[in-house]
Formats: sequence, structure tokens, C-alpha cells
Amino acid sequence: MTKEQILKIFHEKFGDEKPEVYASPGRINLIGEHTDYNGSFVFPGAIDKGMVAAIRLNGTDKVRAYAADLDEHSEFGFNEEDLPKEGWAKYIFGVCREIIKRGGKVAGFDTAFAGDVPLGAGMSSSAALESTYAYALNDMLNLEIDKFELARIGQSTEHNYVGVKCGIMDQFASIFGKEGHLMRLDTKTMEFDYFPFDPKGYKLVLLDTVVKHELASSAYNKRRESCERAAKAIHDNGNPDVQFLRDATMEQLDAVKDSISEEDYMRAKYVIEETQRVYDVSEALEKGDYETVGARMYETHHGMSKLYEVSCEELDFLNDVAREHGVTGSRVMGGGFGGCTINLVKDELYDSFIEDAKKQFKEKYGHEPKVYDVVIKDGARKL
Ligand code: GLA
Repeated sequence: MTKEQILKIFHEKFGDEKPEVYASPGRINLIGEHTDYNGSFVFPGAIDKGMVAAIRLNGTDKVRAYAADLDEHSEFGFNEEDLPKEGWAKYIFGVCREIIKRGGKVAGFDTAFAGDVPLGAGMSSSAALESTYAYALNDMLNLEIDKFELARIGQSTEHNYVGVKCGIMDQFASIFGKEGHLMRLDTKTMEFDYFPFDPKGYKLVLLDTVVKHELASSAYNKRRESCERAAKAIHDNGNPDVQFLRDATMEQLDAVKDSISEEDYMRAKYVIEETQRVYDVSEALEKGDYETVGARMYETHHGMSKLYEVSCEELDFLNDVAREHGVTGSRVMGGGFGGCTINLVKDELYDSFIEDAKKQFKEKYGHEPKVYDVVIKDGARKL
């Protein structure tokens, strides 16, 4: 949605005022999945799809918000007991609350927003929403919160007002994204590098199963708990330096195998292997070796499907189609439990792969997957 379109909607709902307009994107992630709450690495980039919001301070201590895509209104104050009932409004409320908890002074505002990040596709529509408001309020109210803290405000919103104990990747990518660049973030130190991403001869494309499984957030939180238990078992087994699974080796994990559940062992094995894959991919990218990048992506898919168990039948099916078609790399992207595969495809295979994937998926599941070409764009900004 353009600035003009959201301004028009704002004017229809809130009268002829002059709001500011802000936008924040969703994200893709090349590799490093479920690693961000294990102190490990992620490799995201901001995309050309996101949220756009028109916002104007209204001189009260209330927020009046309009979600254009859903045609729903919500009105709420800033106290803990003012939690709105609309799911989408909880994100805006949460951001305000988290700013207040950090000593920031918020003020009432009117706002209309809309987005084009497909919901439930694993592209982080929720982080886009959080980052839009965190960035906007910081700017409009001169709060001088630094960009890392803005990302953490979004993350804490998920933890405290949505119930997803997520890592920092999505909010970080949405705030720090840079056109044409992926970012390799070390989630333990929060150090990161921008990697120019222009894979000559290849395209990145997302295939959206349009499947979204129930209970994804409780399954996500359970994965996190497994990782924490495994890391603690390793730590307590004479490895005081192991704070996160990122710090652990397979040998250290194997040494505690009998004292943790089989499930926790599988989850931890995946994370330790995935950490190594991110190192491999960083090295391969520097050499322009996309064949290695692709091979690691397939390994990630396998790990996410068989060890971490966050894939689903439809995603596995798309992964198989990619492999059979000779696609360089393919894997489930994001939290999993539905959503998209991310595919690294040679230019000359692109058209036939998309056609093949659509046809085979439709024959099996009765509808085509949605196709999104990945375009890497800037993070949160004022329009
Ligand atoms: C979701 C979470 C992220 C990350 C991914 C999996 O998108 O919000 O923090 O854990 O899942 O990599």
C-alpha cells in the first residue's frame, strides 16, 4: 500500500488531519532457523512487503486504531488493564506498554494501518507491525530509543502480550534491513554484518503452502523450552561456559544424552548442526559458492522436518518437488508449522520449477501454492 492510499483511509476515518506515515517490512531468512533464541546466528533480509501506518497524536491518553485490511476499530489506553481484545491491536498496545516500561512517555494517537505481508506465511507480519509503531512513536515523540532497543520492544511485545517466546530475528530484520543486503546477526553479542546479496544467475523465491497450523505458538514455545533444558544439562555437566546451545558441541550434547529426553536431544542436535550450517553459508557466500549455500538449505529442511519437527506434509512435499526439479536449495522458512519454503533457483530453471510446483501441489492439495519473488529492501522508515 502506498503513502497516498493509507493517507486516504486515515482521512476517511479520522477526518482531515495531517498524520505522519511510517512503514516497516517483513523478512526472509536465508539460513539459521530457530537459532536466535539459542544465542546463535541468523541470516535475514527485509523484504518489499510490510506494514504502512498513518499516525497522528490526538492530544488524549487513548489510542484509536483502524486496521484497514480487516475493517476493524479498536480503542485503548496505556494501562496494563486496557489490553484490547482485538488480536492485531494487542501488538500496538504491547509496543506502547513496552516503551512505557523502559521509561518512555507515550501519548495518545489516531492511526490507520494496512499491510501486504501475507499472514501466517512465515514472513513476519507481526514484527512488521511492531516495528512500524516502535519506530514511529520513537520518532514522533523524540524518545531517543536506539534501534536495538526498538527491536527488543517488538520482541517483548510478543513475549508479554502475544505469548510467543520468540527470538530477536524478525524485529531486528524489520528495523535494520537494508536494500540489496542480507544481515548475519550473532544473537549472542548482537553484532552483525551486512552482506551484499546479488546471486548472479540465481533467484530466491518463496512458495507459500497457504497452510497455517493451529497451536503453532505453543509448539514454538515448547521447542524453546527443550533447547533451554538441553543447554542447562550440558552446562551442569561440567561445561560452565555453555550458556546457550550455540556454545555447545555435539560431543557435549552426546555426553548428556541419557539424562535428557529423546525429544530434547533431537531439538538440540538440530540447533548445534544449524549453527555450523550458518558458518558454512557465510563462507560460501563470500566465495559466491551458491551450490554449497543450496546444499545447506536442504540439510536445514531435513533437520527442521525430522529433528526439530516444525515442518508439515505440504512443506515437505514442496521441498521434494524442488529437489526433484534440480533446484539448488530449498527449505521451510521461519518458525514453520505451515507457511513457505524459500528456494534458491537457477535462472534457467525458474519458470519450469514454478510451473511444476504449482501443478503438482494443486494435484495433491487442490490449490496452488502462492509464489513470491524475494526483493530485499530497507527496514523501518518514515515515508
Ligand atoms: C519466528 C520467530 C523468530 C525465529 C523464527 C525461527 O519467526 O519470531 O524469532 O525464532 O521463528 O527461526
